Amino acid sequence: MFLTNSGSESNDTVVRMARHFWQCMGHPDKQVIISRKNAYHGSTMAGASLGGMSSMHEQGGLPIPDIVHIGQPFWYREGGDLSPDEFGKKVASELEQKIEELGEHRVAAFIAEPIQGAGGVIVPPATYWPEISAICKRHQILLVADEVICGFGRTGEWFASDYYSLKPDLMPIAKGLSSGYLPIGGVMVADHITRVIIEEGGEFAHGMTYAGHPAACAVASANIRILRDEGIIDQVRTETGPYLQKRWAELADHPLVGEVRGLGFLGAFEIVADKETRAQFEPSGSTGPLCRDIAANLGLVMRAVGDSMIISPPLIMSKDQIDELVDLAGKALDKTLEQVRA
Ligand SMILES: Cc1ncc(COP(=O)(O)O)c(C=O)c1O
Repeated sequence: MFLTNSGSESNDTVVRMARHFWQCMGHPDKQVIISRKNAYHGSTMAGASLGGMSSMHEQGGLPIPDIVHIGQPFWYREGGDLSPDEFGKKVASELEQKIEELGEHRVAAFIAEPIQGAGGVIVPPATYWPEISAICKRHQILLVADEVICGFGRTGEWFASDYYSLKPDLMPIAKGLSSGYLPIGGVMVADHITRVIIEEGGEFAHGMTYAGHPAACAVASANIRILRDEGIIDQVRTETGPYLQKRWAELADHPLVGEVRGLGFLGAFEIVADKETRAQFEPSGSTGPLCRDIAANLGLVMRAVGDSMIISPPLIMSKDQIDELVDLAGKALDKTLEQVRA
């Protein structure tokens, strides 16, 4: 584990480490990192370049060189007439096409959030990750699973990589590592990468003054102990996660809701003007913020990503609290409907 202070620093570390690894391996041309449109990997120069948010690229001269983006597995908005499984395979195949287009000798790594968080809690179709894993195995490129949101129990497993049976070479983490109580992040590094970097590369010339700060590490250790000893992640996997998903799915009956999705303690729904055609209200992206503000006034923190409403609630929530959350989300939708009708 290489310690940092945040998810953004972790992803900066990923870029340097992946490129340095291939240099140590005698492949200095393997420098390109493939990421995805609408991904979020942080706000530093490398983090925001890896991210696929065009509004961020417009500020500050991004992306930095040798970072390219392929499509995202957002079936509801981009799947067209394909079934989710067909779409999952199709969008995953873009990775292989991009590797072939660039030349495998130039590609260092593929980075992705197992479930996109800031992009709208986008849970990929079931076929997506098996296909991506197979492509990474067929080609000599590193797989980087950005677990900054999904890690430490959010999906009901310690890592979403466990849920999807991924074997990442590098795994940036932050947030849930300390449950947010103090700033700390890191990159978990597979042994075969560490070995090469240490044996062939000498000292990895990379570090931040406060990385691995003892106070932050003490908090992270205590947090991990509590998650483990109090069975919090087991509870999310077996009890409260399935309960939240069951109750959250009921929102699909609301006239404004086009799709409900989620896993564990992550959830989203799409606000639409027309459930049949999936059309959004005009201007698109304006109804989500309206619903968000109404929800906040009711006492519920729900984030709007355009017209996608997303939640990532505390892992210790009880079933009663989940009921309260879903009831408030329903009330926020009712009030939003009143306002769009008016
Ligand atoms: C998947 C992912 N990676 C990286 C980051 C950046 O982390 P930080 O805000 O700690 O720099 C975030 C933050 O939301 C994130 O969601």
